[in-house]
Amino acid sequence: MSLAQHWRFLEGYLRKPQVVGAVAPSSKALAQALCEPYHRYPRPAAVLEVGAGTGAITRHLGTILGEADTLDICEIEPTFTDVLRREVLTRADFASPVASGRVRLLEAPVQDLSHENRYDFIISCLPLNVFELNDVQDVFSALRSCLKPGGILSYFEYMGARRTSRYLAVGRRRSRIRSVSSFLSQNIREHQFDRRVVLRNLPPACARYLRFEP
Ligand SMILES: C[S@@+](CC[C@H](N)C(=O)[O-])C[C@H]1O[C@@H](n2cnc3c(N)ncnc32)[C@H](O)[C@@H]1O
Repeated sequence: MSLAQHWRFLEGYLRKPQVVGAVAPSSKALAQALCEPYHRYPRPAAVLEVGAGTGAITRHLGTILGEADTLDICEIEPTFTDVLRREVLTRADFASPVASGRVRLLEAPVQDLSHENRYDFIISCLPLNVFELNDVQDVFSALRSCLKPGGILSYFEYMGARRTSRYLAVGRRRSRIRSVSSFLSQNIREHQFDRRVVLRNLPPACARYLRFEP
């Protein structure tokens, strides 16, 4: 990713820190880790990427998207959807899937996606740790409704971020983080079937793989 793309991402964060939730885009190593279960998934597969930002994961998906697979890209921020439309979906990897309508850009919050769209594999890059508990619950409920039975949710969080914030935060922020953390921990305990630690990311991250139904 170019310096200009890093700068645009940082600008997005400075404008709306509670929506973007990270100062730098994900690394290639994290993109690879998030997509790992997709390689083992039966094809053709319907894929949803949520919170695409400036396309750090989308670019990688373009290189591995199967010939009959579909990809919906969900992003809430208009400045980022502009970047995705102009600089990512115009890449050679996307020429054929875009021309055949197998790739769509959904400019909306994930909570508003129609549940008629069902996916085998969802990658979420949403900054859950900066959201209010009810937003995190709504996001999980939307993601679960969009998954086909047996489908996989792959998402990441920064290593130790929840633990550190729990200790450093005070007042209302502390209780928000505690409740979000306990909701996420419960989902991890009940539904996570594997995970990958990715040190080559700023900050280091953990990619988590969840399955809600057999
Ligand atoms: C941490 S950034 C990740 C960007 C990129 N995928 C990456 O890994 O570098 C989170 C992204 O989620 C988007 N986002 C936040 N809330 C959202 C929502 N409710 N629905 C869809 N996208 C959302 C933000 O605009 C931002 O682009």
